[in-house]
Amino acid sequence: MDLARTPATPDGNPKMADVPPIAPATPPLIRREDYRPFAWAIPQVALEFDLGLDSTTVRARLDVTRNPAAEPSPVLRLNGDGLQPAEVLVDGEAVSSWVMEGADLLLTLPGEAHQVAITTCIDPSANSQLMGLYASGGMLCTQCEAEGFRRITFFPDRPDVLSTYRVRMSGDRDLFPVLLSNGNLTASGRGPDALHWAEWHDPWPKPSYLFALVAGDLVVNRDSFTTMSGREVQLGIFVRAGDEGRTAHAMESLKRAMKWDEEVFGREYDLDTFNIVAVSDFNMGAMENKGLNVFNTKYVLADPDTATDGDFDAVEGVIAHEYFHNWSGNRVTCRDWFQLSLKEGFTVLRDQLFSQDMGSAAVKRIEDVRVLRSVQFPEDSGPLAHSIRPDSFREISNFYTATVYNKGAEVIRMMRTLAGPEKFRAGCDLYFERHDGEAATCEDFIRAMEDGTGLDLALFRRWYSQAGTPQVEVRLEQDGGQAVLSLKQTVPPTPGQELKQPMPIPLRVALHDRATGRLGAESLIVLEGAQGSFVFPDAGPDTVLSINRGFSAPVIIRREVAPQDLVFLAAHDDDPFARYEAMQDLVVSHLLGVVRGDPSAPEGRAAIGEVLRTVVADTGIDDLMRGELMILPGESYLADQLAQADPSAIHAAREGLKGWLARELEGELVALHQRACAAGEGFDAAPRGARKVKTQALVFLAAGNPALGAEMAAAQYDAATTMTDRQGALMVLAGLNSPERTGRLLDFYNRHKGNALVIDKWFALQAQSLHPNAIEHVKALARHPDFTLRNPNRARSLYMAFAGNPSAFHAPGGEGYRMIADTILALDPLNPQTAARFAPPLGRWRRFEPGRAALMRAELERVAAAPRLSRDTYEQVSRSLG
Ligand code: PHE
Ligand code: ZN
Repeated sequence: MDLARTPATPDGNPKMADVPPIAPATPPLIRREDYRPFAWAIPQVALEFDLGLDSTTVRARLDVTRNPAAEPSPVLRLNGDGLQPAEVLVDGEAVSSWVMEGADLLLTLPGEAHQVAITTCIDPSANSQLMGLYASGGMLCTQCEAEGFRRITFFPDRPDVLSTYRVRMSGDRDLFPVLLSNGNLTASGRGPDALHWAEWHDPWPKPSYLFALVAGDLVVNRDSFTTMSGREVQLGIFVRAGDEGRTAHAMESLKRAMKWDEEVFGREYDLDTFNIVAVSDFNMGAMENKGLNVFNTKYVLADPDTATDGDFDAVEGVIAHEYFHNWSGNRVTCRDWFQLSLKEGFTVLRDQLFSQDMGSAAVKRIEDVRVLRSVQFPEDSGPLAHSIRPDSFREISNFYTATVYNKGAEVIRMMRTLAGPEKFRAGCDLYFERHDGEAATCEDFIRAMEDGTGLDLALFRRWYSQAGTPQVEVRLEQDGGQAVLSLKQTVPPTPGQELKQPMPIPLRVALHDRATGRLGAESLIVLEGAQGSFVFPDAGPDTVLSINRGFSAPVIIRREVAPQDLVFLAAHDDDPFARYEAMQDLVVSHLLGVVRGDPSAPEGRAAIGEVLRTVVADTGIDDLMRGELMILPGESYLADQLAQADPSAIHAAREGLKGWLARELEGELVALHQRACAAGEGFDAAPRGARKVKTQALVFLAAGNPALGAEMAAAQYDAATTMTDRQGALMVLAGLNSPERTGRLLDFYNRHKGNALVIDKWFALQAQSLHPNAIEHVKALARHPDFTLRNPNRARSLYMAFAGNPSAFHAPGGEGYRMIADTILALDPLNPQTAARFAPPLGRWRRFEPGRAALMRAELERVAAAPRLSRDTYEQVSRSLG
């Protein structure tokens, strides 16, 4: 925002209700409790665009009527951001009854109904924030969620104002042969001169954040889908020429998602057209604009030579996620941005369930829990902790978090666990039926769940209002054949929430018999209050407890558990998640012991070695699961277990264990790698699993025997026919100081030069590497001609990858912290939304040993002291210091 420019009326007089201060003031705090319905309704919007890369004219016509549900006001507040009105008409007449208040335009309107027409002029090529209408590689596209529409035209840019949109756009035929917007194409034509035009109509009322427009030179992969009621929907995936060969997987994923949502949630698509456009400059993953999803190329383009198996899964998951928003988000939208989890938590759960059904449910669950623990748990235990339905914000972009998304999904998953899948479906049906066409709240969702399932969710609502990961202390007492399970929960204090109430915690449990190895039946218990005990009358005299099976609740389980119990569970539990969990517990308690200097550490190590030996040899599990079980807990999760962590000690302990295990099991790991190399090619579970264990074996071997690891990784690289094998091998090589390293990195670059998504991998692999000179490599890469901060994917591929590389980021002198702070300062004026996402890694300073903490804090203070910080960065940095 340019505060120096004074908005002026057409006759040149400044019209300001409120003169913005010269020095940027603290951005205001927006509170959930202050929500009021908007005084006006805008049933219809007509937009006309004269498109140009550096100059686009927007004429907006709004039908405005009083909202009978709101307190009446003569003032119509239209939000703007960096806009000047070129013309303001009310009922066809130029008026002077408007003023600017800050960036907003305020019109005073008598009477009940009017037509307001406003013309604005914008420069898409100067839009480096990538919010509103912007230019990307010669095309024009929009991003409006959450508050980008106000950068296009003046409008009540809030999700509870729903309108039907007619869009007419015209532009140069050669520059913009493809013209797209929401809904259905209603007319198009040529002229005058080199221009052509198109008109789109979206019959479904929507909030402004779901508006989209795309104009550019694009090619399309077309297909169709017949819905359950027999309607044919035209599908299109639009990409840059040359990329069309990499869209098949996205198209197949889309059709699978459409079918699955009909079968599992009873949800049918509601337009004749569904289009997806891939753009390479995008702040987030993708956006669910009605009938016209706009995607980061990363989540559309995939073929085996350039995308890994993990990338294929991510494309499928994100395509499904955005498609599912058509009901959970678009047909039923959010009343205000505090309700973001209403659409995001629910839609993440829906995409997780979809992916579980498409592949291995157990592996998908483990992956989702790994993400939750490595990203959301640290958020929940740090200065940026917030409930899934926050109470206040300064900049809503900062609340597109793992808490709102992933914990939000866990909270709804718990309701599903409590109700069972059939009743959960009944609750969802009721929610959609009751609120179709509305802007709803989380409370509406909970009430529909109560009415549809019969559950009483009175106490469960606390999951929406309280932040922090609950801890559950577990004790099991055996008394002859009877076992008594005692549970006690505490929810830790978080910023602004010192005291917490207990929350209902559903736990799937089973008691196994140690002597016979007989596995017990599973039951669901619910810890309703602060404490509870549960009696298992015929448990047998010597049982092993399996608890929080399937990760039925997003909590931390604390218990004294004998290592031999964990060994038993890791090797034998019938719940695959519980097996993984036991393995993780075993490793976590061992590594924390090593960090604390616990003398019994060597025994723990031996137990882990035995379990890993079982896992590597177990014919009862497939390779996808084996690969999962072989992944050691991450350093951020380990650090999170300690009040004040020493990242060097954690890194050394984890690498030490990896190396020791690899030396103990060298023969087995080499054999596993050979067996996997001999497995066939293809994309079924078996070859995918083989590729996964292949690279996992290399990860271990490189730690235990670097020369052998390098030799095998180079061989895997040279023989690779897929990106999965090539990237896996290169990742391992990038971390080794070996002669094989440089040549393969160079080969990779030359082989994939010009493919932005693969070059992103090349940057990220080096920034994330275990190599002792990783910082130096990152500095050199920042000067590489392919590096730019202006492309969010590229900026993240270097610096987000680096911030996630614990040994480099936490380099003892603080150089890594300085680099991230410099990145924030350089990126903030260009793209505040992306800049602010680099603050959380530094924000965790309190959780590190005093030397590191002081260095991290000093960098945050340096950022905070910079003049003209964006609202986004200001909020994240001030909360982190606060
Ligand atoms: N709503 C998008 C999603 O599906 C995320 C997003 C938010 C994209 C803001 C762009 C901007 O999760
Ligand atoms: Zn979403």
